[in-house]
Amino acid sequence: MYRSPITRQAPFRLAAFHKMLTGRILGSGAYLPERRLGNQELALTIDTSDEWIQARTGIAARHIAASDQNTSDLATLAAMRAVSNAGIAATDLDLIIVATTTPDQTFPSVATMVQHRLGCKPIGAFDIQAVCSGFLYAIATANNFIKAGAAKRVLVIGAEVFSRIVDWQDRGTAILFGDGAAAIVLGAEDAESGRGCLGFKLCADGQFHDLLQVDGGPGFAHGQVGKVRMQGKEVFKHAVQILSTVSDEILAQYSLQSAQVDWVIPHQANRRIIEASAEKLGIPIERVIITIAEHGNTSAASIPLALHQGLSDGRLQPGQLVMLQALGGGFTWGAGLIRI
Ligand code: ACO
Repeated sequence: MYRSPITRQAPFRLAAFHKMLTGRILGSGAYLPERRLGNQELALTIDTSDEWIQARTGIAARHIAASDQNTSDLATLAAMRAVSNAGIAATDLDLIIVATTTPDQTFPSVATMVQHRLGCKPIGAFDIQAVCSGFLYAIATANNFIKAGAAKRVLVIGAEVFSRIVDWQDRGTAILFGDGAAAIVLGAEDAESGRGCLGFKLCADGQFHDLLQVDGGPGFAHGQVGKVRMQGKEVFKHAVQILSTVSDEILAQYSLQSAQVDWVIPHQANRRIIEASAEKLGIPIERVIITIAEHGNTSAASIPLALHQGLSDGRLQPGQLVMLQALGGGFTWGAGLIRI
């Protein structure tokens, strides 16, 4: 069959027109349960004090889900707000990724529950489990779907009811954790616009298993639901080193200097970890978004909660460069760079 030279060249011509895509944040939303548990109230049940908690962690309060609220409920409320803020309809979404360590059930995933409750089309929906690094893993995954042309509008949620796996008699962990959810809609953007995700670096090292873990389900190794067990001092030491190393690595990967970063949005685990990591990175604390005082460590929800805060109060402006940083059980950790 005769094929004109133009037809034969067509695939190459099309390739030349194929735009490089990246994910840009179109909108965000958050939800914190109504019940606010302040340090003073917590000190009525365990041997601690407001002064100690504030000084050692920067936490003033945490929010606790009602007994009939599960992760999917928090996730759905945050997602509805994010979709509305993005100015789209739930039917415009083509993928949902939920980062959580505290799913309602072993299965189905929280993401499928959100898909149904939002009234989305039968789009792809799945959960990611990387504890406090979960949102970073989820947004990196969402961005790769967009870059590959496999999705245009992705709902990325971080949602947890950590209060269910906290040992409320253990003052080493009970003071730290809380419940919450936050979400963003990531939309396909021409990479040449200068806005959107630059890239992510994700890491894990299972040798740190024993430093931070839950001694029970939804896996079956322990035959019980389980509670968070943490060697806090050891985690603290590793966290500062690991976070500053991964931050340096991602800056080097994109030939950037820390002075070019407008904002750092770290996982909110402990204010002292956040301060020490910022100092090592050479970023003034005024350029770090810190929301830990109001909600403590909400694991996978903490980065999107801080991101939503920064977007809502106008600190984050279009074109600004933001670095995300996280470390969680596993250990899992990583960093990401996004132009708002
Ligand atoms: N209230 C009052 N006193 C306390 C409390 C408390 N809640 N907890 C410990 N203490 C006491 C200790 O008994 C100790 O007293 P001693 O000196 O008489 O023995 C003293 O305070 C110091 O205790 P440390 O354990 O050394 O306290 P530290 O400064 O390390 O703070 C903390 C503890 C807040 C848990 C800290 O180690 C920490 O934040 N670690 C990291 C947490 C983290 O980042 N986790 C990772 C992410 S979470 C995830 O992925 C699920």
